[in-house]
Amino acid sequence: MKIFLDTANVQAIKKWVATGLIDGVTTNPSHLSKEGQDPKKQVLEICSLLPQGEISVEVTQKEPEAVYKQAKEIAALNKNILVKVPCHKDYYPIINRLVQDGVKLNITLVFTLIQGLMMCKLGARYISPFVGRWDDIDVEGSELLLQMRHMIDDYGFDTGVLAASLRHVRHLHHAINAGADVATLPIGLFEKAIKHPLTDAGIAKFDADWQKLGIQKFP
Ligand code: E4P
Repeated sequence: MKIFLDTANVQAIKKWVATGLIDGVTTNPSHLSKEGQDPKKQVLEICSLLPQGEISVEVTQKEPEAVYKQAKEIAALNKNILVKVPCHKDYYPIINRLVQDGVKLNITLVFTLIQGLMMCKLGARYISPFVGRWDDIDVEGSELLLQMRHMIDDYGFDTGVLAASLRHVRHLHHAINAGADVATLPIGLFEKAIKHPLTDAGIAKFDADWQKLGIQKFP
């Protein structure tokens, strides 16, 4: 399973890339707007931090032909960029063309199994089901992950399931149990997920016991 960071914050990405655990980054217009920098510069800096990684960058145009043109321009920025296009019916023809052109796509804002199936048929690299945004309206979003896994495996599609809009550690558990190909995690969630109070307490206890020996050098 790949782990992506769901952020555009360069400092945070730099910090966690050093663990060797990070396979990519998903940005979106909200993340880039929050950083308040030139978004092109910001994206290129993120790409340079993970030269082998997969960096998702979303289109911001609305009209389909403009989205097509912008998607090509975004893809040309760096070889490891995946272009995020919203899963809207008006964009289906341009998604089809972009795939034919060899542009790697992460289809974003996917909320149903049927939307997911359509994007697999078009040959998207990833579909991003938005778990947390379903939960926001009191629907169990995690169920989509398993449904999409089964659909992709049953029909033999090449598309990967990228579990997105994850807000809680339990969402990450659901993504792992569903066999999602990728989980994209906001920084706070990644930090929470890799920490355990019993590990911290265990280290402190071993250290306290060790100090009782009074040994300066070991081995
Ligand atoms: C990632 O690709 C998405 O843009 C992100 O996970 C959305 O998360 P949110 O629903 O918490 O904003």
